[in-house]
Amino acid sequence: MRKRNEWEEFFDGHAPAYMENVFTKNTLAEVDFIIEELKLSPRSRILDIGCGTGRHSVELAKRGYSVTGVDLSSGMLAEAKEAAGKAGVEVEWIHADATQFKPERLYDAAICLCEGAFGLLGKNDDPLEQGLSILHNIKRALKPDSKLIMTVLNGLALIRKYSQEDVEKGVFDPVALAETYPMEYDTPEGKKSLMVRERGFTPTELKLMLGQTGFEVNHIWGGTAGKWGRRKIDLDEIEIMVIAKKMIGVS
Ligand SMILES: C[S@@+](CC[C@H](N)C(=O)[O-])C[C@H]1O[C@@H](n2cnc3c(N)ncnc32)[C@H](O)[C@@H]1O
Repeated sequence: MRKRNEWEEFFDGHAPAYMENVFTKNTLAEVDFIIEELKLSPRSRILDIGCGTGRHSVELAKRGYSVTGVDLSSGMLAEAKEAAGKAGVEVEWIHADATQFKPERLYDAAICLCEGAFGLLGKNDDPLEQGLSILHNIKRALKPDSKLIMTVLNGLALIRKYSQEDVEKGVFDPVALAETYPMEYDTPEGKKSLMVRERGFTPTELKLMLGQTGFEVNHIWGGTAGKWGRRKIDLDEIEIMVIAKKMIGVS
């Protein structure tokens, strides 16, 4: 049987409360932004990696796109299915690990938002391989010249936030650019806490990783939820946005 990672356990427990997070409150404006960037014709196919409760998938489906959401957490997908039902839209939901996801059709665009899988490391995940395998799977899912929009944890901010003491204590790993910290969530049996590991990315390595997996980077902007815009990265902000295109001639 497949071993659950800490993030799957966390998101299964946190799913019913996920939409209470402040960072989820800007979904409509985010979807406006996505549509403006992608410039797709109606009914185009969009792949949402690490779709969570489906807040972007469902809104995109409401606006006439054909959407597939992929997520590791069955709890998050249950919330997503309920949201789609309430909105009266059809979305294809796939329960899968994005590092192992094998696409069965080709898409016109992909989104991977708010650390949707990318950089959310299991205890034993290789910090570089995890992201590369997700990019590889997204690339295989996309038609040539199709766009990918990602928002990922800002590694520059992590470097500025942590001290040498944090490195010595094992809270921040400067090689992996990963932080390890306890995440709390409520369950019917009371509060639970899990040690999770999450990594940030520098813009330079994002360019290298995307280039290595067959993408050309068009833009890297500040991408913190609630503050999306075509603007320079603020060094201390939480997330970076990447707009990339699958290169022509790459399979
Ligand atoms: C912070 S949430 C973001 C959800 C959504 N994209 C949003 O913007 O609200 C991260 C999501 O990634 C999912 N996730 C974590 N690791 C994953 C993996 N390896 N494969 C697929 N999904 C994963 C989690 O279950 C969770 O739903």
